[in-house]
This record gives sequence, structure tokens and C-alpha cells, in this order.
Amino acid sequence: MTKFSRSSVFLSWALLYLVSGCVVKNTINSSSTLNAAISQDQNLAITPPMGWNSWNAFGKNVNEQVIRETADAMVSSAMTQVGFSYIVIDDIWQGGRDSSTGLLYADAKKFPSGMKALADYVHSKGLKFGIYSDAGTKTCGEMPGSFGYEKKDAKLFADWGVDFLKYDYCFCPDYVSANNDYKMAISRYKAMGDALKATGRPILFSICEWGPRSPWLWGKEVGGHMWRTSYDVADIWDKPRNETSPVGILTSIDVMTNLGRFSGPGGWNDPDMLVVGLNNTGFIKGGGCNDIEYRTQMSMWCMFSAPLMLGCDIRNMNEVTKTIILNKDIIDIDQDSLGKQGYRVMSKDGLEAWKKPLTGNRIAIALFNRNSSNKTITASWKDLELEPGKGYSIFDVWKHSSVGQEDATLSADLQPHECQVFVLSAKKNK
Ligand code: GAL
Repeated sequence: MTKFSRSSVFLSWALLYLVSGCVVKNTINSSSTLNAAISQDQNLAITPPMGWNSWNAFGKNVNEQVIRETADAMVSSAMTQVGFSYIVIDDIWQGGRDSSTGLLYADAKKFPSGMKALADYVHSKGLKFGIYSDAGTKTCGEMPGSFGYEKKDAKLFADWGVDFLKYDYCFCPDYVSANNDYKMAISRYKAMGDALKATGRPILFSICEWGPRSPWLWGKEVGGHMWRTSYDVADIWDKPRNETSPVGILTSIDVMTNLGRFSGPGGWNDPDMLVVGLNNTGFIKGGGCNDIEYRTQMSMWCMFSAPLMLGCDIRNMNEVTKTIILNKDIIDIDQDSLGKQGYRVMSKDGLEAWKKPLTGNRIAIALFNRNSSNKTITASWKDLELEPGKGYSIFDVWKHSSVGQEDATLSADLQPHECQVFVLSAKKNK
């Protein structure tokens, strides 16, 4: 069981009762109150947001040229055709905060044309423009944070033409420890959520609190459209959680395991960015993953209905990376309008089956091998909680073809860390 297993979710609810203000308290008793308390524009994230973020590949070296070329590449690589639309500038774009006006400004060496012109360029490509700030006094990269300047910063971002704000949680004034400041986190995120809403510009609000204060419980109420469930995912398959340090893909999968009921149209659990295609280059290095592991990350993120924020240098993707991130069949699972997060139905000896209900009475099944050796997995209809006698037709989303399987089991030969994904459609509806 992971640190944020079912029991800790219940513990979180209990803690919220004790420590939270009205925002959360009012949402606990009934779903109608919950709906009434939601203060964001859900239409901004009816399906999980898809885009690119500068942090993993460029970190503090992000600049205007990178952003312009990345916008060009998002269009020319056909990423837009499969649904990618946001270009998000992460931390260390800032030059400072003007002491007389209190306005944030961009680093003029990195962004000589300024943010408004850059946003216009991104928009001219048919894309959306995102930026980053922090709920504390400083960002994680020690740039000026938005604490106390929420309204001013939200207005500035809206004036620039920002469509997406990633909002981090470093340097928050009365940070004491990971488990005792829910109330402060809620009020800080609500301050920015309200400020964004007050601008009148639709701005998608991406909460980056990493998970310790269970943002899946209050993210929507403070105006959020997605909330990180995990610390940063490094470019590595398996690296356990160690306080605030980055984790591997596997840990981020495990953190998501029991959070499905908190995610859906309008507000999504976010297990962090895709490390697909980094190949141990860029700003965030972790040792790298092999192509099977990258494909598994894409598969599982789609099974989770996770936001698909790519972190590699999309100007220079190799063919394997393109095959992974441009697979419309797997992206369709992520973007399915039912918006259900997949859940594990079978787990034995490191072999797992995950199930995600889709529209049209279809079901996505992922068969996954955690072991470091080749294995064959066979899951029965009972294991998969499927009705017998439906005559399912089965489509392999990585091979892009129908597969013949017995109408009672689904099996796959899996390499180490491999995940194969199938869409089952019932031929008979009885
Ligand atoms: C971390 C965040 C990363 C990145 C970084 C920038 O807190 O999780 O995704 O935004 O800050 O400093």
C-alpha cells in the first residue's frame, strides 16, 4: 500500500472536518452541496487537458525562442491533430516584481518581446498559452511568488492573454509540516482561484501542491481544474517517494490507485507530466527509461484520464516518441467523455489488470507487468468483472488491430514493465 492509500484518504477527510473552513465543510455532506460550492468554469476541462510544459526539458533555461519553436513544432508534428493545445512556461521566466507598481515582469533577456507578444504568437498558431506562479512568497525556483499579489498577478496574466496557470506551493509563509496545514493551502489556492475568476478571462487553474494536503478533496471547490497527486515524476521507472524528492513512474501510478472517485469532467487527478521522450536529456534527469516504460507511462496516464502534459523537447522527438504520443487510439481512451479514472481489478505476482469504462458500453483493459522478467498474464472475465456471453470484440490499441481472443479470457505476453491496452466492445447487448 502506498502512503496515500484508501485509509489515508479517509484520514484526510477526517482531518478536513477538523481543520477546514466553510469551503470544504460545506461540501462533505451531500453531492448537491458539493456542486453548489464548485466555483470554476468546468467547461475549461471537460476532458483532461493536453499540452506541453517547459520544466522537464528546459528548467531555468526556458526562453522565448524555445517557446516559439515549440509552438511551431506542436503544429508541424501533428500533435494538435490528436488534441494537444497548451504551451505552458514553467518556473524561472520571471525577472522580478517592480517595487513601485507591484507588477511581476518577465526576464527581459530570456523574453525580449515580452509575455503579451509571446502569448499572441502562441495564439496565432491556434494554441493556448500557459504560465506558472506559486502560492508562497517565492516560487520553487526562488522567483517572486504570488502570495499577497493574487489579484494583481491574475489580472496581469489575463492582460497578457494567459489561458492556463500552474500554481505551485513552495515558500508558503506558515509552512510547518506536510500534514498540518490543509486550511492554509485551501485558502491560498482559493485566493488565486477567485482572482482568476474575477478577471473574466477563462483561465485553466492547475494546482501543483504535489499531494500531501490531499488536493483531490478540495481542488474543484477552490477553482482548480487539475491537481497534482504526486511529487515530480523524474525520468526513471522506479524511484520511491522520499519526502519532497522526485519519484519514478511506478510510484506515481501507485499514488493514483485509490483516487479515482475524485477525478472526472471539470477536475482531474494529475500524476505529473509525461517523461516520454526525455531519454535522460534535458533539465530533469533520472537515469532514463526504455521505450517500453515510456509507452507504459502513456498507457497508464490514459487509463487514469490524466492530463497529458508532455515534458520532452518536442522540436526534436525521435520516431518512437512520436509513435507513443501521437497514438490517437490510446489518447481516445484518455479523452473519453465519460471521464472515469481506471482502477485495478486484478493483481497477482506483479501482474495487474486495470479497467476503465468508456462511452458506448465499451471498456478499456490494461494488462501490466511490474516484474523485471517476461511474463504471460491471463485474466478471466471474472477477474475483469465482465459479464459472460457478450461476445466482446477486442481491439489492441498499440498494435492498432483487432485481436482474436477466447470469449472468456484476455491474455498477453508482456516484457518487463510492459503494458498492453485493449478496448472491448460488446457485440451482443442482452
Ligand atoms: C516543482 C513542481 C515542478 C516544477 C518546479 C519548478 O514544485 O512540482 O513541476 O514546476 O517546481 O520550480
